[in-house]
Amino acid sequence: MKRERWASRVGLVLAFAGNAVGLGNFLRFPVQAAKNGGGAFMIPYFFAFILLGIPLMWIEWTIGRYGGKFGHGTTPGMFDKLWNKPISKYIGALGVMIPLLIGSYYLYVMSWTLGFAFYSLKGTLTSFTSHEQISAFLSAYQGVVKNQYFHSIWTSYIFYLIAFLFTMYIVSRGIVKGIETLAKIAMPTLFLFAFFLMIRVLTLGTPDPINHPDWNINTGLGYMWNPMIEYLKKGKTWIAAAGQIFFTLSLGIGVLQSYASYLKEKEDIVVAGLATASTNEFAEVILGGTIAIPAAVAFFGPVLVKTGGAFDLGFKTLPLVFGKLPYGWLFSTLWFLLLFLAGVTSGVALSQPLVAFLEDEFGLTKKKAALIVAIVLFTLGQPIIFLLKYGVLDDIDWWIGTVGLALFATLEVFIFNFAFGTERGWQELHRGASMRLPRIFYFIMRYITPFFLLAIFIYWIATDGINFLLMKGVPAANRPFLIATRIAIILVYVAIAVLIRIAWDKKKNVGK
Ligand code: TRP
Ligand code: TRP
Repeated sequence: MKRERWASRVGLVLAFAGNAVGLGNFLRFPVQAAKNGGGAFMIPYFFAFILLGIPLMWIEWTIGRYGGKFGHGTTPGMFDKLWNKPISKYIGALGVMIPLLIGSYYLYVMSWTLGFAFYSLKGTLTSFTSHEQISAFLSAYQGVVKNQYFHSIWTSYIFYLIAFLFTMYIVSRGIVKGIETLAKIAMPTLFLFAFFLMIRVLTLGTPDPINHPDWNINTGLGYMWNPMIEYLKKGKTWIAAAGQIFFTLSLGIGVLQSYASYLKEKEDIVVAGLATASTNEFAEVILGGTIAIPAAVAFFGPVLVKTGGAFDLGFKTLPLVFGKLPYGWLFSTLWFLLLFLAGVTSGVALSQPLVAFLEDEFGLTKKKAALIVAIVLFTLGQPIIFLLKYGVLDDIDWWIGTVGLALFATLEVFIFNFAFGTERGWQELHRGASMRLPRIFYFIMRYITPFFLLAIFIYWIATDGINFLLMKGVPAANRPFLIATRIAIILVYVAIAVLIRIAWDKKKNVGK
C-alpha cells in the first residue's frame, strides 16, 4: 500500500504549526514568562529555543521522515531502524503510549473551550462579575460540585462528545483530507481571531481611571515584559524556559515523528521546520504575550495573575475582563473559539500516532484504525472525566505529560546521536535541503541538546518526583484512585509492548 503524503508545503507547515500552536501558546507561555522574570525570561527562552527546541525538532523530523521511508509512522518502527536492537522498539513504545494517554484527557479539556464558547455566545459567561461566581460555574461544569449552574456533568459531557467525534472524524479522513484540510482552515482563522483580540487588548486604555489609575494597558504590558534581571541567576528560570520551549514545540511526544513520516523523501525539512517553529513563536510571543496577561492586569491589577495558574487566567479571569467590555460576549466567544481551534488541531495530532501504528504495523485500513483508536481513547477517557475530582488527570499530566516527555526525548536523542550516529543523522536532515546549517548545530545536537534534556529531567524528578511518588499532600480518599491510575499507565505500556511483539513476530514469519 502506498503511503500517504502531505499534499503541499503550505499545508504541511500549517499542519505542523497546528500541532505546535495550542493552549500552551496563549495561556502557559504568558504565565511562565510573567512568573519568571518578565522580559528577562526571553533570554533563557531564546537560549532554550536555539540549544534545545530547534535541534530536537529537526531530530524528530529527521527520525520521522527516515522511518516513513520504511513504512513506519510511529517510533517503535522508527527506533528499530535507527538502532537494530530488540529494546529500541520498546523504547519507541513510549511514542505511542504518551500521545494516547495525553489524548485521552486532552480531548476532554479541549472540549471545555467549546462549551465556554457556547456560554459566551449565550451571554452567561460574561454576566459574571466575581471570581467566586465564575469559579462556581466552572467547577459545576466540570462535575466537581453541584450548584445552581449545573446539577450534573452532562452538559459538559455533550460538548465532550461533540469535540471527540469531530476529532475522530478528522483523523479518520486521513492526512491530506483530514488533518491538512483542517489546518488550512483552522490556522488562518485562529490567527485572525488572535489579531482581533490583540488589537482590542492594546486599545483597552485605563479601564477604571478613578479607582485604579495605574491599572492600564501600559502597566499590563509592563507586567508581562519588564525585565527582572535578577531572575537570570535562578536555575528555576532556565528550567522553566526549557520546559516551555519543549511544551510549545510539542517535542518528546511522538507526534512530530508521526507527522514527519508522511513527508516526501526530498522535502526540505530544514526550512519547513524553521517555518513551523517561527509560526509557533509568533503565535506564542507576539500574540500570546499580548492578550491574556496585559488584559488581566489592566482590569484586576497584578494580584490575580500571581495567585492563579494558566488555566484560571484563561477560563476565569479573561471572561471577567470581557464581561466589563461593550460586546464582551463577542470577545469572549472569539477567545474560546480561538482556544478551541488551537486545541482541536492538537487533539487531532495526539490521536494520529496510534492510528498510524495500527495501519502500518497491523495493516488495518484507516477507517478501521480510526474506529479502534476512537474506542480506546473514549474508554481511557471515561475514568479521567468521572474521577476528575480525585486528581487522576493531574497525576497523568505529571507522569506522562511532564516527566514522560523529558524521559522519552532524552532516550531519543541518545539513540539518534550514539546508536544511529550524529553524522548519518546530519546527512538525513540535509537530504533535499536547500540550505546547509552551520556546523555548530552538529555539536549542539550531539552534546548540548542531550545535556539540556537530562538537566530538565533530573530537575523535575528531584523537585517534584518524590512528592508525586509518595502522594504528598494528597487526601487519603484520593490515594487509591492515584494508585489505580499508575497501575493503569503501566498496563497501557505493557499492552502496547505486547502489540509490538505480535507485529514484529508476524513480520519475521512473513520474511521467512
Ligand atoms: N504544543 C502544544 C501547546 O503549545 C501542546 C502540546 C504538547 C501538544 N505536545 C503536544 C499538542 C502534542 C499536540 C500534540 O499547547
Ligand atoms: N503541564 C503544564 C504546566 O506545567 C500544565 C498544562 C498542561 C497546561 N496543559 C496545559 C497549561 C495547557 C496551560 C495550557 O504548567
